[in-house]
Amino acid sequence: MTQTPQLATLYGPVTDDMVLVEDLLESTKKVDLAPLRRMLDHALHARGKRLRPALVLLSGSFGEYDLNRLVPLGAAIELLHTASLVHDDVVDGADSRRGRPTANSVFDNALTVLLGDYMFANAAEMVTRTGSLAVTRLFALALMKMTSGELDQDAAAFDVGKDIQNYLWRIGGKTAALMANATEGGALLGGCDEGMVEALRTYGYSIGMAFQMVDDILDFTGDEAEMGKPVGSDLREGTITLPGLLLLERYPRDNPIKRFILAKRGREERLQEAIEMVRATEVLEVSMEMARGYIRRANEAIAHLPETEAKASLARIGEHVLNRRS
Ligand code: IPE
Ligand code: IPE
Ligand code: MG
Ligand code: MG
Repeated sequence: MTQTPQLATLYGPVTDDMVLVEDLLESTKKVDLAPLRRMLDHALHARGKRLRPALVLLSGSFGEYDLNRLVPLGAAIELLHTASLVHDDVVDGADSRRGRPTANSVFDNALTVLLGDYMFANAAEMVTRTGSLAVTRLFALALMKMTSGELDQDAAAFDVGKDIQNYLWRIGGKTAALMANATEGGALLGGCDEGMVEALRTYGYSIGMAFQMVDDILDFTGDEAEMGKPVGSDLREGTITLPGLLLLERYPRDNPIKRFILAKRGREERLQEAIEMVRATEVLEVSMEMARGYIRRANEAIAHLPETEAKASLARIGEHVLNRRS
């Protein structure tokens, strides 16, 4: 995926400073070891939306806007995010990401796991440049939550007995924790007061919850070329996301997801039936409504923050999370 001009308007006042995050990310590719350099080049070549570093800078702007500390945190979080995608694609066996072949499809799984490890360590080194032990600790905790969320997703795979509560816990870990880390970390580095830090943390967490819900909806409705990654693959992998959980809850008898999961033969046909029913029923709209609820919660959290350009940008990001196609 390439960076669209739309993102510039989305990130408003911090758009120009995002170049500093790019420079720092770029510098991580400069290593002597040729095989590692090749892999880093590959993993960092295509840019994503850069949402998380934008959240760091925007949150930091509510306090003392010190780019010497905010930029390393933004780059560290983006690097950690990218490393988690490198590993996620190994776990999911995915072949494309950000419109390009995944690292695991070019190199093998073992090397790709090591590449992800290196990137995680590099991200950890970078976060120490903020000089804040509290922020470094939050960063480590976020990665622990993300890994726990991904492990729980694996444990819940092909299990029709899991409920929406479990789903919310899982996405809270794998996705919302890092967004919350971005906003809380930015606010802490800005020296914001406790109320503001809490408001921005809740905003980031809520945005993250909605973001993953929309990602899970787009897995049923999105376009592979626009998304730059495989769609229609969650259920095939046994990952039952919000629309599927709602379908199980609302149509418990003769449910096509249950048939797919129990099927010994004709699995592909059963899978298509399940996808068809998700698309034909109200469950996608109900899922969207839940995502809208989290965006409302995000906006409520920052309602009392000063009316700055950064606040307008945070509100636009909320809208974008709901309307995005990629
Ligand atoms: C993808 O995140 C992983 C999820 C949390 C769904 P993004 O959609 O932010 O990925 P990039 O960074 O833009 O590629
Ligand atoms: C998000 O989950 C992955 C992480 C937060 C690491 P998904 O598995 O839905 O992400 P995509 O769809 O592969 O980007
Ligand atoms: Mg995945
Ligand atoms: Mg997904």
